[in-house]
Amino acid sequence: MKILVVADEQEMSLEAARIIGALVRTKPDAVLGLPTGSTPLGTYGELARMHHEENLDFSRVRTINLDEYIGLSDDHPQSYRAFMRKHLFDHINIDENNTHIPNGMAEDVEEECRRYDAIFYRYGRTDLQLIGIGVNAHIAFNEPADCFTPDTHIAELTESTIDANQRNFDHRDEVPRTAISVGMRGIMSTRHLVLIACGEGKAEAVAKSCFGPVTPRVPGSLIQLHPYVTVIADEAAMSLCPVFFSA
Ligand code: F6R
Repeated sequence: MKILVVADEQEMSLEAARIIGALVRTKPDAVLGLPTGSTPLGTYGELARMHHEENLDFSRVRTINLDEYIGLSDDHPQSYRAFMRKHLFDHINIDENNTHIPNGMAEDVEEECRRYDAIFYRYGRTDLQLIGIGVNAHIAFNEPADCFTPDTHIAELTESTIDANQRNFDHRDEVPRTAISVGMRGIMSTRHLVLIACGEGKAEAVAKSCFGPVTPRVPGSLIQLHPYVTVIADEAAMSLCPVFFSA
């Protein structure tokens, strides 16, 4: 595991965008696994800038998002499809047919989960999987549990995740309780796993995920078993890590 400790959120964002940009230049049809949330916002902004100012070409790039709320349609402003359009897809030359996000309105949600896994099988594996991490160390919506779930599945969001996601909704009762989430196989099968984290709120999750025992009670800890992981975290998010020392 390579850990890059950076000064702040901006540096984290630039570093992650630099890695993604380099991949897209060397492999123009790269398959990117992408998260939503506040952590990747700066990275997406920088990728859009690289597209406009440095001709970074996304025309052949394929993307697979990690998750979508159940019950929110594509055009609901809080859906993850709307999020991806607003923060990335509308600002780069990606073909939206090459972007994949679970359908939160599917009539048969189990069938939608199988359809989504089939996309991973079709593409083989993602070239790079970008992930954020929850304060409870969830990755995608793989919440702390008794065992790891390999496949795309219906995730029951924990109260702490609902609390964290509430900031995007007017009322807490509007926050969906369930989501379709890629499972651990989808995440771990990537060639390069890149975890981004910033702020002291993530410090415990980062420390346990990078240095604690590997356990489904700390879903992020599974990344320790991946052969090619880059963690990009600011000093605040690294502050509880045993090897952290300030520059
Ligand atoms: C979102 C996702 C989640 C977020 C996590 C951190 O697609 O998969 O696991 O990465 O909840 O969210 P932020 O970045 O908002 O702190």
